[in-house]
Amino acid sequence: MNIILLGPPGAGKGTQAAMLMNRYNIPQISTGEILRAAVQNQSLMGLKAKEYMDAGDLVPDEVVVGIVRERLQADDCDGGFILDGFPRTLPQADALKQSLEELNMPLDAVVSLQVETDVLVERLTGRRTCRSCGKVYHLQYDPPAQNNTCSCGGKLEQRDDDCEETIRNRMQVYHQQTAPLEDYYRDANLLSVIDGMAEISDVHEQIILTLQNC
Ligand code: AP5
Ligand code: MG
Ligand code: ZN
Repeated sequence: MNIILLGPPGAGKGTQAAMLMNRYNIPQISTGEILRAAVQNQSLMGLKAKEYMDAGDLVPDEVVVGIVRERLQADDCDGGFILDGFPRTLPQADALKQSLEELNMPLDAVVSLQVETDVLVERLTGRRTCRSCGKVYHLQYDPPAQNNTCSCGGKLEQRDDDCEETIRNRMQVYHQQTAPLEDYYRDANLLSVIDGMAEISDVHEQIILTLQNC
């Protein structure tokens, strides 16, 4: 099962990718998470990426294309993968196409999650992430059992780019640079559009139904 999850910031890509990962036992490849880890480790790549991420802009294509190309060659991708947050530009989509052809890993589906903008902003401002294990919560829609604490015991924190000004720019960047990928994958006969406004478990079921028909 080789899948791409497409959708604006806050659409639920990470939430759904984690559920699909458990269900199909295939890895979630989130370029955002890989970049945030690089920032935390203060690697050269992380130091360069941080400026873009803090502004809500995209990190240059060649950086993320290299990350994904390498990641796809790891053994755990043999049974499939879920790309979350990649590709995000047409050049990234072209580069991915080439990598997947070389690796003989054809895409099965591109799932696009549709959510209205006001709901996205609400989701992003209420999101909390575990510092230890990365699990994602929402203060209202998916609250932790214990205040500010993950089920693993880790402390929950807010992402640096989840402030209102940066969120606004991320939305704009999405519409300008990433939204055209819907047509790109529709033309390739791979696109499935899913209503991402439903409850988390209902969205998951819709995605499963869609994937069963691929
Ligand atoms: P990235 O980490 O990919 O962020 P994003 O695309 O902005 O998406 P988010 O992670 O914010 O949202 P999501 O769709 O995963 O939603 P989630 O499931 O968490 O990228 C960050 C930055 O890294 C970029 O700005 C860029 O700088 C850089 N970058 C990354 N990839 C790049 C690339 N390919 N090229 C260049 N630069 C790149 O859900 C959000 C909240 O809503 C959570 O609290 C969740 O609990 C809640 N929620 C989820 N689903 C539902 C539901 N159905 N109902 C109610 N609440 C829900
Ligand atoms: Mg995410
Ligand atoms: Zn945790």
